[in-house]
Amino acid sequence: MASPVRFLTGITTTGTPHLGNYVGAIRPAVQASLRPGIESYYFLADYHALIKCDEPARIQRSTLEIAACWVAAGLDPEKVFFYRQSDIPEIPELTWFLTCVAGKGLLNRAHAYKAQVDKNAAAGVDADTDVSAGLFMYPVLMAADIILFNAHKVPVGRDQIQHIEMARDMASSFNHLYGEHFTLPEAQVDEAVALLPGLDGRKMSKSYDNVIGLFAPREQVRKQIFSIVTDSRAPGEPKDTEGSALFQIYQAFAAPEETAQLRKLYAEGIAWGDAKQLLFERIDREIAPMRARYDALVADPAQLERILQAGAAKARAHATPFMGRLRHAVGLRNLAATDGPAKAKASKSSLPAFKQYREADGRHHFKLVDAAGRLLLQGAGFDAPQDAGRAVARLKQQGWQPGDADASLAEGVTEATVQDALAQLRGA
Ligand code: TRP
Repeated sequence: MASPVRFLTGITTTGTPHLGNYVGAIRPAVQASLRPGIESYYFLADYHALIKCDEPARIQRSTLEIAACWVAAGLDPEKVFFYRQSDIPEIPELTWFLTCVAGKGLLNRAHAYKAQVDKNAAAGVDADTDVSAGLFMYPVLMAADIILFNAHKVPVGRDQIQHIEMARDMASSFNHLYGEHFTLPEAQVDEAVALLPGLDGRKMSKSYDNVIGLFAPREQVRKQIFSIVTDSRAPGEPKDTEGSALFQIYQAFAAPEETAQLRKLYAEGIAWGDAKQLLFERIDREIAPMRARYDALVADPAQLERILQAGAAKARAHATPFMGRLRHAVGLRNLAATDGPAKAKASKSSLPAFKQYREADGRHHFKLVDAAGRLLLQGAGFDAPQDAGRAVARLKQQGWQPGDADASLAEGVTEATVQDALAQLRGA
């Protein structure tokens, strides 16, 4: 089996999820996380939330709601990495490292920042009005989110593509200066995923105030659906599916046969009220079981807190040792652990190591431990020490693969940790 492809995406914790978020992001992400051969990282971007929101209660509430939504929608925190950005102190630390390699000119070109500058110009006010340094630095924080976990693919909306390009830019600047530490991430924009129209036919978005709540109370969802704008055709008059927000929303939930059926009903002149009722029932069929889970989760924040804490521990099992190597790479080092500034090579004691030994059964074993002595890989037993040596050499050269006959992952250790340790040995 090849090593897994890592997918990573963040959700800014400022709002309450609506149907557009569900169809455009949550549902495809949960489905993707179930595919074999991939490793998914989903996190609550609450540091990002501070850039645009200064209401503490709202940030807390939104974090709770978004976390509950993802779990209710079927994300399995055991299977994926699901965590809160502010629980990972390595993220702001890496942000600083990247700040020091990011060109200011690069950041000047970021859309979100430029939009504010353009707005200021149009209003005839100073270019920096309402521009916090946080807004300016937003792409650096986002780059740190992504490359700390060496993500390969970042599923995002079109508006975020530029940020992924900037992350690649910062990652390659860092690699160029300090060695090949980072994978260059790629944006993944899923064209097949529906852009859901809102109540007024424009894209469903909080800023247009045209959203249908995802887990709003059932009656409220019904009311919102009945307020979808339609034309004035009377019952019995054939209706156009083209440009009908109602039809498009239905399509995002229905199987192709169901959509074909609604198309037929449109042609036959279904009354708008009846079409809305069909839409409401179709959405409710998918959402109702999740709503029950959502309500239970929101009513028990301590449970979500435990899930997030466990997620942070799992993410940090990778982030902390990786950050240790990055600190070392840039020269933030334990003075006692090196042989002094003249010798630039990593000292042995700060490196992972293979240990070979013989057990009571007379067979020759080996193991890979990290710099702190934690077991990463357990090798198989060999009759001859040379065979164990060859297995070690091969692992050093070619890396470890899941299913490797010569060595298996120690409990609680991720493949990424092992690959990083092996890469570090190769680099030393
Ligand atoms: N900026 C993203 C948004 O507003 C959220 C985000 C933060 C993110 N960090 C990320 C997305 C890292 C992908 C990867 O949508």
